[in-house]
Amino acid sequence: MSEDYKGPNRVFSGVQPSGSLHLGNYLGALKKFAKLQHEHDCVFCIVDLHAITVPQDPKLLADQTREIAAAYLAAGVDPKKAIVYAQSSVRAHTELAWYFNCVARTGWLNRMTQFKDKAGKNAESASVGLYTYPVLQAADILAFKGTHVPVGEDQKQHLELSRDIAQKFNNDFDAPNFFPLPEPLIKGPGAKVMSLRDGTKKMSKSDPSDASRINLTDTPDQIAKKIRKAKTDTGAVPATVEEMEGRPDIANLIGIYAALSERSEVDIMTEHGGGQFGPFKAALAEVAVETLRPVTELMNRYLAAPDELDAILKKAGDDAAEIADPIVADVRRIIGFRGA
Ligand code: AMP
Ligand code: TRP
Repeated sequence: MSEDYKGPNRVFSGVQPSGSLHLGNYLGALKKFAKLQHEHDCVFCIVDLHAITVPQDPKLLADQTREIAAAYLAAGVDPKKAIVYAQSSVRAHTELAWYFNCVARTGWLNRMTQFKDKAGKNAESASVGLYTYPVLQAADILAFKGTHVPVGEDQKQHLELSRDIAQKFNNDFDAPNFFPLPEPLIKGPGAKVMSLRDGTKKMSKSDPSDASRINLTDTPDQIAKKIRKAKTDTGAVPATVEEMEGRPDIANLIGIYAALSERSEVDIMTEHGGGQFGPFKAALAEVAVETLRPVTELMNRYLAAPDELDAILKKAGDDAAEIADPIVADVRRIIGFRGA
């Protein structure tokens, strides 16, 4: 954050309501959110406007949004402590995104690797929304003057863009320190959970192989089976950090074990180092099943009461707008619109 920014600290983050959530989302994002709510003002968003940058089925979108809301709550986010709301219910996002579209430079967006990965060879037929997705993300954070953003490692570049936009806005409009330069909170276990089928690729909703990820909705049997079948090499379980080097598949499993059990990787290697993969995987499966079981159960309980979820989202949307609307009104004034 800019050293001269005088506003309060505020944590902001978002998760897309598309596809089912997996262990990477849980360890890299949701679990961290639940911890942060005890230390800071937190605003957590279900980014349905981001979801429509690729086609979505209108009949499913509301359900998918409820599913993410249920996951936030099941991971321990308390709606009395933190604001959990749907992005589309707060107009400030789209309005600020337009202003930021006029601040960001096309050269900056051309460097975004996530767009290149998602659009692939079909960049010409990707939506303009997918291209300008990181600008909306900057608007999400800065509509709340968010100062700290817990995300997985894959969002690092988008966060750098948010800082660049905040800084350029402050400079261009001679509004020093109006926006904070939001800092990513990436470190810690689970910041980059990799695919169970390929330890060099991140665990992702869009991987065609379901065996590559553990979904929060998987049954204990499915979880155990996926871990049993997880890719490993021909060696034994490494006993030291040096022995783990250059072995992405087993390094990923050790990282997952450590993050789930809240122990250090060294601790895990001290216990299992030199052993066969079979018993190690059995122990990991047990930890995974027991850690995720209460989360899945709670999530299902929330999903069985959609009206309750909708009421939480509605109230949180009002609370969120109360914070964001005056900030965007200030932006209008700073830009020079009449009648702002
Ligand atoms: P997404 O599902 O892409 O909207 O991501 C939601 C949150 O989960 C973001 O903070 C991501 O950085 C995080 N995340 C997604 N995949 C992973 C992963 N494989 N490891 C760690 N964090 C992840
Ligand atoms: N782009 C993020 C992702 O794919 C989701 C997101 C949208 C987000 N807006 C945000 C994350 C604002 C943090 C802050 O994971």
